[in-house]
Formats: sequence, structure tokens, C-alpha cells
Amino acid sequence: VTDKAEYESGYDFVVVANRLAVNRVTNEDGTTGWQRSPGGLVTALAPIMATSEGAWVGWHGAPDETLEPFDHEGMHLHPVPLSDEELENYYEGFSNGTLWPLYHDVIARPLFHRHWWDAYRKVNQRFAEAAAKVAARGATVWVQDYQLQLVPQMLRDLREDVKIGFFNHIPFPPPGLFAQLPWRHSVMKGLLGADLIGFQRESDARNFQRAVRYRLGHYIKADQVYVPLDSETAAPLEGFTADPARGTAPRQLSSPESGTFRLSEAKAFPISIDTDRIVELSNDPKIIARAAQIRAELGNPETIFLGVDRLDYTKGIRHRLKAYEELLQEGKLEVGKHTMVQIASPSREGVESYQVLRDEIELTVGRINGEYDTMGHTAVRYLHHSYPVEEMVALYLAADVMLVTALRDGMNLVAKEYVAARKSGTGVLVLSEFTGAADQLRQALLINPHDIDELKAAMVQATALDPEDEKKRMRSLRRQVVSHNVKRWAEDFLARLDQL
Ligand code: F6P
Repeated sequence: VTDKAEYESGYDFVVVANRLAVNRVTNEDGTTGWQRSPGGLVTALAPIMATSEGAWVGWHGAPDETLEPFDHEGMHLHPVPLSDEELENYYEGFSNGTLWPLYHDVIARPLFHRHWWDAYRKVNQRFAEAAAKVAARGATVWVQDYQLQLVPQMLRDLREDVKIGFFNHIPFPPPGLFAQLPWRHSVMKGLLGADLIGFQRESDARNFQRAVRYRLGHYIKADQVYVPLDSETAAPLEGFTADPARGTAPRQLSSPESGTFRLSEAKAFPISIDTDRIVELSNDPKIIARAAQIRAELGNPETIFLGVDRLDYTKGIRHRLKAYEELLQEGKLEVGKHTMVQIASPSREGVESYQVLRDEIELTVGRINGEYDTMGHTAVRYLHHSYPVEEMVALYLAADVMLVTALRDGMNLVAKEYVAARKSGTGVLVLSEFTGAADQLRQALLINPHDIDELKAAMVQATALDPEDEKKRMRSLRRQVVSHNVKRWAEDFLARLDQL
């Protein structure tokens, strides 16, 4: 990016995300086209993009393919190419084999490979350059998620004039776990290139602040990190440790008086869903009829338990199945009266830990069904598919109990979608306290999924909750979800970024 005049014709609002805001689809006649991605992020940002001349920079989903920028439904899309090798090392490797398990409480063992890190840096640089190329002078650039943590500082190095936001959609780990990362300083410095760094939970923002204070020695006050600009107070080089626990003297903290700084704010902005859309679909007679059909196809059981997850080891699917199996074994639940539906959408199938998990879950489901199914009824209806939102809402309407048993989850939007769909006021949400959603959905039946007995007790309680209590809880949950939709989330973040 050398020609500064070029910036004048760029975009005022740029989103940078690992994935582009569209998915490739194959039409009935065999031709291919693009369809807007169904996720909440795209839903929230698409209207902002349309009104503010926005562009979206991201990978288009196919390796070893270079595409020219194109427009779709008012969005200007700038595809970033990834080679097959980069997909393996940057996406499956460093993003999902190192960062994902490390940031989710090391539920799976994170792998630290230097060639994965090299690919991560290289690809982050490519995204930063792509963003620098399309942003207008003084534009707002909003970088999304853990795959792109180095982009904020890389972009700042290329373009001092732009305002940079970053949002981390997944948890930020406690400093003791984050410390395992051999490239921890580089990651923190990458993030601190942003003017505003958003996290899902207060605890995530605190974890980041504590890591920055201990490891980089930066002064922090009221969520503002003082990032030194001069070499005297600048951050230590990779490998330097300021950890008092390791016997070295703690690094002298920088202070606002001791040099020149820029401020970077680290703060929680809990994400939400497109509530209006879910509510609208839940009122659609076709979807209501489909819900009744689902119940009938399952033999009209008294209670349908529902789990909806990407097939990911963070989601606690095994814990849920274990609890259910024990309840069937003990006769506290009965096939015919009770059924579990588990949607496990395919995810990251190139990563070994996901392949192992799939085998384990499918073995368990097979065992449970083999043991407890009858000719007419199934114990677990397991579906390894992704479904359109219409079918998801029909499932939410059909289910009496929603089971969200994640061992760690940045937010968990399924919990919020279930609540949004239950306008009738019935339905019980069993929710893991290790999800971001648990901070807001306090009237759910909150559980620790590691405690199988507690999970079992909550499942039994959910089947027999006093109807008044059930409605009171659901009303309170709905108030929260209806008043905090994803549009408000995006507006709050961007308004704060604008103020800084
Ligand atoms: O929760 C983090 C996230 O990256 C989401 O943004 C995304 O929907 C999901 O994980 C799956 O991500 P991917 O298929 O891109 O790895």
C-alpha cells in the first residue's frame, strides 16, 4: 500500500473476518452462486455495510483459488486467498489446533508448532494488507475473532489514519493458561494495535488485562491499556518473562507519566442474536406445523430434550449423553416418554481431535440406542447435519427442554435462540455456567456439566418443573434476549469505538 491518494476512494467501514459474509451455493441447474451467511454477525453488520459504504474482507471458503472482489446484496466483498497448505497450517493448525483448545480451558491439548505460527503470521499479514488497501482515509475497520489477532497492529503499522476495533468471539483464557503460548507477547501486542478490544464476558476482558499487566507491564486504568510508543517503555521482546512466580523481578510497570502512549480499551460486549427474525419465524404457521410434525414423528413423547451444537469437544455432548444414558439405566427417564434429539453439525473435519470426537459420540449414541430403543421409539435421534434456520426454529418449538452443556463457550447463541423462539412462555433451558450466555440468562437451570449428578438432577427437574415457575423463568429470560439483540451489540461496540 504505497499510493496514499488511493485511500480517498476506499470504504468508510471495513469488516475483516476469517470467513467472507457469503457461502457458495450450487443451484438446481448445477450453476454456482453466493448466498448470505446465516450467522448473527453477518445479519447485524449487513445493514450497517449497506448504509455506510462498507466492505467485507475474508476468505471465501475454497483453498487455492483467487477471486476478484464482487458485490452481493449491497455488500462489497473482498476475498482473501488461502493456499491448501495455509488452510492446513493457519486455519486447521494454529487457529483450531493451538488457539481454540488453549482458549477453551485446554479441554483438548493445544499443539504448539512453529510452522503453524509462521503460517498464522503470514496469513494475518495478508488480511491486514487487504484491509489497508480497501479502507478509506479515517475509516473504521472492525477485525473479528481469534484467527486474526495479529491484524490490528499489522494494520496500524500500514495505516495510522484508521480506527481499529477487534472483537474476540471466543473466551480469552486465564493468564496462567495463556502463558503456555510460546508467542503470547506477539499475540497481545497484535491485539493492542486496536483502539477497542471487545470480549464476550467481563471475565474474558479481565483475563486479557491481567495478562497484559503481568506479561507486558502495561499500566491499565478503567479498561484503558496505556500502550507505550517509545522504546524505553515499549513492551519486552518475545521470550522475556516478567513473571514473579518464576523468581524473576516483576517488570517495572509503565505509568502514564513515564513516556508517550496510545490508549487501547479492553471491555466486554456480550454478543446476541437476530431476535426479531427468530421471533418472526416462531410465529410462522408453516414452522409451527413443522414443529408439530417433528413431535409426531418422534412418537409424541412427553418430553423432548434437544441439543444443537457444532460437533466440537467444547460443547459437552459426551457429558450430556452420559447423563441421559444413566437416567435411562436408572429408570428415571423412559424411552417412549422421553426422547433426546441431538443435532451435531459437521465442523472442522480436517482436524484430528474433531475426527476422534465424532467417532466417540457416534459409538456412544449407537450403544445407547442399541440398549434402549424400542421398535417404535428411539432414545437418541442423532443427526450429523446442518439445517436452515427455519428447521432450527421448528426444533426449538418442538423441544420441551434445551440442553446447553458446553464445557467452555464464548457465548452460545443456541441458548438465546431457544429462548427467543419460546413466545408461549413454556420450555426449560438447562444451561452450563461455563458459557458466556450464563452471565445474562440467570433464570435458566444453571449447571456445571462436569458434575454429571447435577446435570442429571437438572434434566429430571426440567421434566417436572412447576408450570408457573417454568413460565416465570422463561418470561425473565425472554426479556433479556428481546432487549439485547445483535444489532444493539454492533451499535454499542461501534459507538464506543467512535468515541475513543
Ligand atoms: O465461535 C467462533 C467461530 O469461529 C464462529 O465465528 C463460527 O461460526 C464457528 O466458530 C465455526 O467456525 P469455522 O467453521 O469458521 O471454523
